[in-house]
Amino acid sequence: MPKLSDKLAFFTDSVIRRMTRIANLHGAVNLSQGFPDFDPPEALKEALATVAAGSIHQYAVTWGAPNFREALARKQTRFMGFEIDPETQVAVTCGSTEAMIATMLTICNPGDKVIVFSPFYENYTADTILSGALPIYVHLNPPHYNFDIQELEAAFQQHPKALILCNPSNPSGKVYTLAELEIIAGFAQKYDVFVITDEVYEHIVFEPNKHHYIASLPGMFERTISCSSLSKTYSITGWRLGYAIAPATIIDGIRKVHDFLTVGAAAPLQEAAVTALNFGDGYYTDLQQSYRDKRDFFLNGLDQLGLKYTAPQGAYYVMVDISEFGASNDVDFCEWMASEVGVAAVPGSSFFRDEVHHLVRFHFAKNKETLAQALKALANLRSMANDKVWNTKD
Ligand SMILES: Cc1ncc(COP(=O)(O)O)c(C=O)c1O
Repeated sequence: MPKLSDKLAFFTDSVIRRMTRIANLHGAVNLSQGFPDFDPPEALKEALATVAAGSIHQYAVTWGAPNFREALARKQTRFMGFEIDPETQVAVTCGSTEAMIATMLTICNPGDKVIVFSPFYENYTADTILSGALPIYVHLNPPHYNFDIQELEAAFQQHPKALILCNPSNPSGKVYTLAELEIIAGFAQKYDVFVITDEVYEHIVFEPNKHHYIASLPGMFERTISCSSLSKTYSITGWRLGYAIAPATIIDGIRKVHDFLTVGAAAPLQEAAVTALNFGDGYYTDLQQSYRDKRDFFLNGLDQLGLKYTAPQGAYYVMVDISEFGASNDVDFCEWMASEVGVAAVPGSSFFRDEVHHLVRFHFAKNKETLAQALKALANLRSMANDKVWNTKD
């Protein structure tokens, strides 16, 4: 048999999706993979039913159905604060996941370097490997996940092609301040580097924190590829609708790559999603409030259990410190917690470049009843963990 690609040796299957399988196996409350256990807005489900009964069932234009692009450009122009041309500056993709890999394949040659903040969303490792790029990691230091300016500049001095910016950030919940974005933008311009954003949580930010789009900063639109999706904003992670917004010459390249990766995002779903893209401001304020309630409810529960965590500023994850339990292997800890305690989380080590084994990530995009059930199970965590004899090499 011929050998498979060498690339496969450099990444494993998704730890996050593996934790979901383990949660299902043990019937644990699944706070690992970040997707809601509640339905999208009723109006969106109704729009889908209407579209399903109609006749939009064949390929859409490969880079996005015109009415979807128009609605998207209108909505993003409103939030990003600059005019976006749906004809030339938008590529519609199968989720932000595809937008990012298509972007990486468009801008990177094998051997190009790309700056990645650590901890990072696990897709970025696969994205760099698949596009032949080499990551330069810059630390976001827990518990506050700040970066060191000298370390960042040293990374820029290594002639990277691009920097990946996940804002609001998974897993840390960090929302970059305007001042931090200005520092990154300053280096990107000084060292002539692209910025690729992943802004799928753009509408899930907890006051007083505020989401700023780096593409909106002076001189940045030209060098920024803003990737995002409808997955989190409208609770439709299964619809696989995402996009990249960038200057026409870059979008031209992304459209070419995208055409051969997937041809296009599902036509009926694009059609139905126009309804969501036309929602008024009230939808977004209600979304923020509903996630704020979930966040406060879950963090309050963690407080009552005496667990230590970093309060997220945005997105719907919280990193919890498990040092007190004495397990030196967070993967074993998470597997044990799913099977014995009944709650699944993601081992923090899967997000860090360095050996970090004292954190686990929970997500709270769940109904209050589900969160309450998880907290009830977690009430036994300390006593069960203290009774457990952890393998010394764990
Ligand atoms: C930071 C981040 N980017 C991208 C995704 C996936 O987005 P999409 O469903 O648009 O592919 C996720 C999903 O958890 C995420 O957390």
